[in-house]
Amino acid sequence: MTRARIIGVGSYAPKRILTNADLEKMVETSDEWIFQRSGIRERRIADESEATSDLALRAAQQALERANLVPEDVEFIAVGTTTPDMFFPTVGNIVQHRLGCKNVGSVDLLAACAGSVYSLVFGCQLVQTGKYRRVLCIGAETLSRITDFTDRGTCVLLADAAGAAVLEAHDGDRGIIDFDLYSDGRYADLLYMPAGGSRHPATRETVDARMHYAKMKGSEVFKVAVRMFADCAERILSRNGVTVADVSLFIPHQANLRIIEAAVKRVGLPMERVFVNVDRYGNTGAASVYVALEEAIAAGRVRPGDLVLLAAFGGGFAWGAVLIRW
Ligand code: UT7
Repeated sequence: MTRARIIGVGSYAPKRILTNADLEKMVETSDEWIFQRSGIRERRIADESEATSDLALRAAQQALERANLVPEDVEFIAVGTTTPDMFFPTVGNIVQHRLGCKNVGSVDLLAACAGSVYSLVFGCQLVQTGKYRRVLCIGAETLSRITDFTDRGTCVLLADAAGAAVLEAHDGDRGIIDFDLYSDGRYADLLYMPAGGSRHPATRETVDARMHYAKMKGSEVFKVAVRMFADCAERILSRNGVTVADVSLFIPHQANLRIIEAAVKRVGLPMERVFVNVDRYGNTGAASVYVALEEAIAAGRVRPGDLVLLAAFGGGFAWGAVLIRW
């Protein structure tokens, strides 16, 4: 059967580092509090000249190089992002043009921090149907642009980065073997950005009321996220007749180390088989799983034949998992 295989992964993070010590000078917080509650030490923040598509482009170029492909080989671009350069055109359009891809389709998918798995699954399905042979999947964010740097509950967590993966059609067992995507709007008010859309278009009042920033009820998100991670991981493994013992590496969305630890404890997966880089990047939304995958490969933690599980959750709520035979 035709499977979508990841043949190249790239990532890019802005150069500017914002440490917990820097944040101590901006809001009432401490390095100790941030590290103990979230596992984050530092994060990257885009400078004024960088928008989401700039980060996405760098990650995409690296992924294509590693796949030994040129932009003309790409047939479709699927981007997960919550922070596009503008409403439209999409980041997909901008990246397509700047890469120089010809005769391709592109789309942005908004699934908040689950945009990584949503974009990967979208690309996977285009490949599995036989319609396209090579799809470029990207997760890219400049979450700092929707972060209220006077709100200590969110500004210590959110950050900027991009990651990309090239999918190619292959016959055989290797590649994406299964996925699940979920959505539950019941939790919409736990994590959202109130203004800037058709409900509350930008006005002087919405700006004054700081409605163009992400709002979060952190501890409630925490509880639901742990359950979602654990449930979706267990369901995809059992449906495929495998157990946690078969999983070589779990690459979760990097939102908070405590969420990851609590979820894998429920599932029964030891931390040695979980990839974590939230300490250096913070929560980079739709980029995080791609960035973590890129680092896991570079660290030699993903080998041919390995069973790799990806999972992400985010505002909406939207969440999901992807199971890969590497
Ligand atoms: O992709 C999905 C994105 N979102 C998430 O993954 C977030 C999930 N939630 C979390 O990561 C955690 O809930 C947080 C890290 C946001 C907060 O940790 P917590 O253990 O749930 O703390 P809390 O919200 O219950 O707050 C405890 C205390 C509060 O003070 P009081 O009311 O007990 O006096 C907060 O006001 O900590 C206070 N607090 C802070 N203190 C120092 C909140 N933020 C900070 C801060 N520095 N940055």
